[in-house]
Amino acid sequence: MKIVVIGAGHIGLVTALSLAHHSHEVLCVDVDQKKINSLSEARTDIYEPQLAEFLKCKVIQNKIRFSCDYSVAIHFSNIVFVAVGTPSDEHGCCDLSFLESALYQLQQKSVSKKTIIIKSTVPPGTIRKFQSVYPQFDFVSSPEFLREGQALQDALNPERVIAGSYSKSAVELVRSIYLPFLKNESDFIEMDPTSSELTKYAANSFLAARISLINEFSKLCEKLGANIESVAAGLAKDSRIGPLFLKAGIGYGGSCFPKDIDALLNFASLQNEEMKIMRAVKSVNDQQVEAFTQKIIGAFRNSGKKSLAIWGGAFKPDTNDIREAPALKIIDQLLCHDFDLKFYDPFANSNVGLHFQEHSKAAKLQMMTDKMSTIEDSHALIVLTEWSDFIETDLKDVKSKLIDFKIFDGRNIFSEQRHQHIDLDYTGVGL
Ligand code: UDX
Repeated sequence: MKIVVIGAGHIGLVTALSLAHHSHEVLCVDVDQKKINSLSEARTDIYEPQLAEFLKCKVIQNKIRFSCDYSVAIHFSNIVFVAVGTPSDEHGCCDLSFLESALYQLQQKSVSKKTIIIKSTVPPGTIRKFQSVYPQFDFVSSPEFLREGQALQDALNPERVIAGSYSKSAVELVRSIYLPFLKNESDFIEMDPTSSELTKYAANSFLAARISLINEFSKLCEKLGANIESVAAGLAKDSRIGPLFLKAGIGYGGSCFPKDIDALLNFASLQNEEMKIMRAVKSVNDQQVEAFTQKIIGAFRNSGKKSLAIWGGAFKPDTNDIREAPALKIIDQLLCHDFDLKFYDPFANSNVGLHFQEHSKAAKLQMMTDKMSTIEDSHALIVLTEWSDFIETDLKDVKSKLIDFKIFDGRNIFSEQRHQHIDLDYTGVGL
């Protein structure tokens, strides 16, 4: 089939490539001319494992094309996936303006009926509203659940696909597109659009709640001299709980959880629903970053000028995305406390550099090009992202370079190795 994908960000690009991989002919549209020019030459700023190679391959095979021109898109196909950003507005509500502008452009020039599949995360009730404003379109809510860092694999092998629509024929069209992606037919779940929209918020809420819950127990572990990793291992074997999303650390970040939880809380309060648990989830997450930063600041109080090595800025490994990364808040506070920082992230260096270029203390942040030179002559190592390159490090080598053998490990990557070094001054999370 010929398919249009509107939005060439993380989700749009990966969605477009996954459709191209399943032999569809895809036109990906975005308003950003610079981005479209790069993508047309098979170049992208997004780092994801295999993404660059995959993009190159699909461009060479002519399975995917890129354009800024809506009139081209309108004539290309009547099947349109929309994956534009829905960021938070200044009140923390979901800003639908990119989505509304895309629909406006589509309806301006469309002559034939289109099926519009909304991948963007939108507040419950959005499709109900759109369906009445644009009766010439059949809308389907099909939220995207892919994880950054595994985006291609997740898009190509989704655990489930949800389709929420008032149009039976639109659902059947989406089913025919997605069945080849799924292991079982029953992994395609049909429902009403509002339930579909709500499922996305509920999924992110459940996952974020697990993280805040394990982080809350990590604080208790620190008070009691218990070990959060042992507690998590004990929980993981309960099949009702399972092993995933039980890693204590410096809290969740990224382009989805923080924004979606804010949007949900705002949306719910408009419905006079308080969502007490989700409010607590957010507040525990905020405190987690603060508590970790205070451990570092407290350890060096009144001890003169200190130089710290920072490993990691991305909100999680295998991505260069730093949106809402806990690392940014920690670095900001350390700069404000006048530490000299040497920083290294395997893929997010330039994004972090750009983020801090206007910071009043930017001169105190030195960007480094490899992990070992970062720790040379530093008083402590601070780990903020669990890249495998960091996990593989031998603490003997770290010791030989640091002035003090002091580590603040926000991701507990050295929780096991630390036992081999009695002279190590180690601070993890919940250990
Ligand atoms: C998330 C959802 O998983 C995905 O389904 C949705 O489509 C978008 O939001 P993503 O933001 O890519 O995906 O990252 P995810 O792997 O879920 O991690 C989010 C954050 O939680 C990261 O900052 C990560 O470090 C943190 N996290 C995750 C923990 O602190 N502990 C854990 O056990 C798991």
